Amino acid sequence: MCGIFAITSNKRNDIGEILVECAEKLTYRGYDTVGIATVAKNRIHLRKDKGKFDEVAEKLRLSEMPGSKGIAQLRWATFGAPSKLNAQPHLDCDEDLCAAHNGNILNFLPLREQYTEEGHIVRSMNDGEICVHAVERYYDQSGDLIDAIRKGCSDLKGDYAFAVMHRDDDKIYAVKMGSSLFAGIGDGETCVSSDLPSILPVTREIVNIHDGEMIILTPETLEIRSISKGTVIERNPYTSDADIRVAQKGGYPHFMLKEIHEQVSATRTLFSAIREPYISQFVDTLIEANRVFFIACGSSYHAAVVGSYYFNELANIAAIPVIGGQFTSLYGESIGEKDVAVCVSQSGETKDVIDAVHHSLKKNTKILGVVNVLGSTLTHLSDLYLPLGSGFEISVPATKTYTSQVTLFDFLAIQAGRKKGVLNQNQAESKLNALKTQLSPLIEETISTTTLKARSLAPYLSRFSHFYVLGHGLTHGVALEGALKIKEVCYIVADGMYSSEFKHGPLSIVDKGYPIIFAIAPDDAEHIVNHLAEVECRGARIIATGEDHPLLRRYVTEEDFLTVPKSNQNLSPILQAIPLQLLAYHLATYKDIDPDYPRNISKTLTVR
Ligand code: F6R
Repeated sequence: MCGIFAITSNKRNDIGEILVECAEKLTYRGYDTVGIATVAKNRIHLRKDKGKFDEVAEKLRLSEMPGSKGIAQLRWATFGAPSKLNAQPHLDCDEDLCAAHNGNILNFLPLREQYTEEGHIVRSMNDGEICVHAVERYYDQSGDLIDAIRKGCSDLKGDYAFAVMHRDDDKIYAVKMGSSLFAGIGDGETCVSSDLPSILPVTREIVNIHDGEMIILTPETLEIRSISKGTVIERNPYTSDADIRVAQKGGYPHFMLKEIHEQVSATRTLFSAIREPYISQFVDTLIEANRVFFIACGSSYHAAVVGSYYFNELANIAAIPVIGGQFTSLYGESIGEKDVAVCVSQSGETKDVIDAVHHSLKKNTKILGVVNVLGSTLTHLSDLYLPLGSGFEISVPATKTYTSQVTLFDFLAIQAGRKKGVLNQNQAESKLNALKTQLSPLIEETISTTTLKARSLAPYLSRFSHFYVLGHGLTHGVALEGALKIKEVCYIVADGMYSSEFKHGPLSIVDKGYPIIFAIAPDDAEHIVNHLAEVECRGARIIATGEDHPLLRRYVTEEDFLTVPKSNQNLSPILQAIPLQLLAYHLATYKDIDPDYPRNISKTLTVR
C-alpha cells in the first residue's frame, strides 16, 4: 500500500518542511519510492526517487521545497517497478495539475491505452499516473476542476484515494473511493492524509471522509461533496485525543522493540477500550449465531486461530478461522443471515477482509469488527465493533495488536462460556480476574526473562535459511505467528505447523543440529513430548517456549528454553508469542535488517 499526505497553508511558504514531518509518519505504508510536489509562484516543483523516506528526503532536500501547498506520496509498488519514473506524485500533460494516489486502479492498462490514443502523454507504468490524466481529460473540456474530478472518478475502476492540485490556486482536492482518507482542519491550514498520526503535527481537529466523497481544501475551509451527486455534505470535525508520542521511538532503537515492550500497557488499556453494553451485544450475537467465522489476514488471522481454540474450550462455540482472501470462495455461497462474520484487523483497511465484509453484507450476514484503527473502513462497515485501544502500531510487523487481539478473544470466550453455562460463575470470575490483573505483569516478566536468551540464539539461527515452528492446540496460532515474524523480518523460511502434522512428511528434513522451535501450552506438555522425541532422536536442536516442566527439560537445554512465567492454560499462549517476537527482532538486527521496514512489505494492504 501507499500513503498520501497533502496540505494547503496560508502561513507557510516553506511547505516542504511540514510535508516531510507529516509524510515521514506514513513510512510504514510504503518505502519503495518517495515524492513531493509543491506549488510556489504558480509553478509545480516535483522531486521524487526510489528509496526509503529518510534517504530520499535527504538526497533531494525535500524539506527545503518552497510553496504554501503540496502533496507527498510514499509508494509500495504494485503496478510499475520501484523507480524514479514510476514514483508519485505525477504531472498531467501540460504540467498544471499534479496528483498522487493510494490503492489500485484496476483498469489502468486499458485506460493508459485509451488516453494515449487520445493524445495524453502517460509517462510511467504506475497506475497512480492515470488519476491525474483522468482529471485532466475532463478539465481540458470544462475548466471546472470539481466537475473534472467527479467525471474522472467515473473512468477509474478499483479501490483508491487520491489528492490532486492545480498550480494556479490555493486548493487541494482529494477523493476517497475505497482507500482510507482522513482530513484535518488546523489554524490557517488544512490537510488530508491516508492516516491519522500523520495529521497530528498539523492539527487534532479531524474529519473522517467516507467512500464516494471528495473534499475541497483551502487553508481556511474544508468542504465535503458526494462524488456521484456533487451535493455538499455537512460533517463536524472531532478532536482526536491520540497520543502523538506513540509515533516516536522513545529511546528504543526500533519501533518493533518499543511495541513489544508496549504489550505490558496495551493489554491493560484493552480493558478500558472495550465497554459494556457492547461486550454483551458482541457475545450474545456470537452465542445466537448459526455459524461464526473469524475472518482476518496475517497476524490478525493467527490471533483468530488462537481465538477459535478459546471459543471451543471455554464456550463450546465453533468459530471457524478463515483467511480473508479465501472467505468468499470457501463460504461465500453458503453464508446467510443467521451467520456472523467476526472481522479482525489492526488497520481496519485490509482489502481481503473488506471484500469479505462486502460479500457478507450482500448476504445479510452480521458483521462484528475487532479493530485497532478507529475511523477505519471496518469500523464504518461493522454492525458492531470492539476497539483494541493499542494506540498506533508503527512498526510493519504486528506485535502489540496481535497480543491484544488474542487477549480480547480469551476475554470474549470466557464471557460467552459464562453466559452459556460452560463455565460457572467462579471459574469465569477467576479467569477474567487473571486476565485483567495478572497478564500485564506476566508479560513484563516474560520480556525481562527471555530477552537475553532470544538474543543469544540469533547467531545460531542465522546460519539456517529455513526451519520450523510447531504448536499444538492453543499454541498452533502462536507457532504460525512466531514463524510469520521470523519470515517477515529475518528473511528466513520459518514454517509454522501443527506439531502432530510434522511427522506426515516434513520430518524427513530433520538432521543433526536442525532447529525446531516448539510453543507448548502447560497442559499439553505430556502430549507434546512425543513430538519432541520424534525430532530429538533424529538430531534436531529443540528450542522451546513454554512453562518450565521436568518432562520438557529432557529435550530442551537451559539456553534453548525460552521459559515463560507460570500462569495457566489460557494465559500461557499469550505469553509464549513474546519470546518468539523477541527472537525475530534480535535475529533481524543480528542480520542487519531493519525490522521496522522489512523489504517488499507494507503495513496496510488495501489491494487484493
Ligand atoms: C505481520 C503483519 C501482517 C498483518 C496483515 C493484516 O506482522 O503485520 O501480516 O497482520 O497484513 O493486517 P491487518 O491486521 O491490518 O488487517
